Amino acid sequence: MDQPQISSQILYDTALQLAQKAGNAIARQRHQLDIQFKQGTELVTQADVAADQIIRDGILAHFPDHQILSEELAPDNPTDCEHLWVIDPIDGTVNYAHLHPQVAISIAYYHQGEAQVAVVHNPFLNETFSAINGLGAWLNQQPIQCATTQEMRRALIATGFPYDKHDIPQLIQRLQAVLTQCADIRRLGSAALDICWVACGRLDAYYETVKPWDFAAAQLIAREAGVQFGHIHALPEGINPQLCGENIILAVPALFGPLQQLLQQADISFASKKR
Ligand code: IPD
Ligand code: CA
Ligand code: CA
Repeated sequence: MDQPQISSQILYDTALQLAQKAGNAIARQRHQLDIQFKQGTELVTQADVAADQIIRDGILAHFPDHQILSEELAPDNPTDCEHLWVIDPIDGTVNYAHLHPQVAISIAYYHQGEAQVAVVHNPFLNETFSAINGLGAWLNQQPIQCATTQEMRRALIATGFPYDKHDIPQLIQRLQAVLTQCADIRRLGSAALDICWVACGRLDAYYETVKPWDFAAAQLIAREAGVQFGHIHALPEGINPQLCGENIILAVPALFGPLQQLLQQADISFASKKR
């Protein structure tokens, strides 16, 4: 027999409450940090792990049979399941450790591979972005919509760079192509917030390669606010776009196609120079 559907409101309230609880915890811990480096380069603190544990415990207390994919405690958990939570306990850990305010807790609930509920909470700016599939997106409970920018030369575009420096030459080629055409670039340090900022009109577009937990919640918030989501290159068959962070683009509708084309051309020209 099929289980009855869990109401979106219960999932939404759970995500919101846990994001706030984890947000309070990381705000308290920020001045006594134990800083370590994963793989020698990727900064992580005890607060990342503590926040992951708070959210994990809260989800399992309500939904013991749900699966969790989370950056610190369960980064390799399979994602092909009915009920999946995708969590970044601190997105913007480098900002967090350097006392910059662009930091978020990101929590998404997926049903059969599709995001249904999303919360991205910035405890340092008291801003909570959220969305429910089909019902809209909000910033602190006020509905949000993306900008209506039409021209690339007026666009403010965000991106980011990985901890691993191997792909820097290719990323610089992309950056040069985009910066030549757009108004300006921002590197704000939290992918989840970059995408939410496209959702609420503070930015016009964003592109980067990230992990599922970096964008799972924010992509739903952005799409619910009218943003177009996709990838620079076509994905192979069978890959779930909502869980594939390779070369993602989120842009206001008029700029999605032009930005995608610009980035594809930058990659073609980079590949031809390498030959
Ligand atoms: C990072 C941030 C950053 C992005 C990196 C991510 P973390 O997440 O989202 O903006 O450029 O690719 O790894 O490590 O702070 O959770
Ligand atoms: Ca992250
Ligand atoms: Ca993180």
